[in-house]
Amino acid sequence: MISLSNLKDFKAKGRKFSCLTCYDASMAKAMEIAEIDTILIGDSLGMAIQGHDSTLPVTVADMAYHAAAVRRANQHAFILCDLPFLSYATVNDALINSRTVMQAGAQMVKVEGGAWLAETVAVLTRNGVPVCVHLGLTPQSVNVFGGYKLQAKTREAADQLIADCKAVVEAGAAILLLECVPAQMGKEIAELFPEVPVIGIGAGVETDGQVLVVQDMLGLTFGRVARFVRNFMKEQSGETAILDAFKAYHAAVQDQSFPAKEHTFQVEL
Ligand code: KIV
Repeated sequence: MISLSNLKDFKAKGRKFSCLTCYDASMAKAMEIAEIDTILIGDSLGMAIQGHDSTLPVTVADMAYHAAAVRRANQHAFILCDLPFLSYATVNDALINSRTVMQAGAQMVKVEGGAWLAETVAVLTRNGVPVCVHLGLTPQSVNVFGGYKLQAKTREAADQLIADCKAVVEAGAAILLLECVPAQMGKEIAELFPEVPVIGIGAGVETDGQVLVVQDMLGLTFGRVARFVRNFMKEQSGETAILDAFKAYHAAVQDQSFPAKEHTFQVEL
C-alpha cells in the first residue's frame, strides 16, 4: 500500500504519481489493478454521483460512506478524502469531521483554502491527521469566485497564492493540490517545497502528481468539459476498456505526456 512517505520519495526521485477521484468499490478495484497511486474521495461526488450542480450539498456522512466503500476494495492507493463545505469552519469541527472520514478509511483529509487554515492544519497534523490543502480554484467557494475560472492570472495574485502555500506548509500541510492555475505556478510551487508533493489539476505538467475526476477522464461528463481534461476512454475498446483507460492515464502521468499543452493554461506572469 502506498504511503505518504512513498509519495515524498517519488517526488525526491522525480517519479510522477497518478491520482483519480473515486467513489465506489468497483472503480476502486479497477484502479487497484491499474496501480493508480492515489485516490481522492472528492466532494465532486456532489455533481458526479448525486446530480447536484455544485459540491455544496455534500455532507460528512456522504464522504465517510464513499471513503469506506473505496477503502474496502482498494488496498494499493494512498487515500485522500475531502472535508466538505463548512465542515472545517472551526478547528473543533475539523477535528471531529476528520475523525469520521479517517475512521471510514481515509489516510489524509483535504481542505480548501489558504493561509487562514494554518491553525486548522497544525492542530489536525498534531492529532495524527495528515492534511492536503487545495488552493487556486477551490470549488467550495464557487459563489465567491462567481464561477469556475482560472486563478492566479496576475503576478500579484500569483504571489498571494505562493504566500498561502508557504503559510500552510509551515503549519504542517503534507500535500498541496493546485487547481486551474497557470502552468508556471504549478512549476514554481512544486520547486519551492522539495519535501511536499504537489498535485495538479489544470496546473501544468511540472507538478509532482496529477489528478482528474474519474467521470471526466472516462468521457462520462456531458456538457462543458474543462480544458485540463483528457478523455482516456476514447483510445480504448473491448471489455477491459475502463481498466485500460486507467492504465493509460497512469502511464501518461508518469511519462509526462499528460497534461499536454492543450490541457494547460499558459499565462505570462
Ligand atoms: O472534489 C474533487 O474531485 C476535487 C478535485 C477536482 C481535485 O477536489
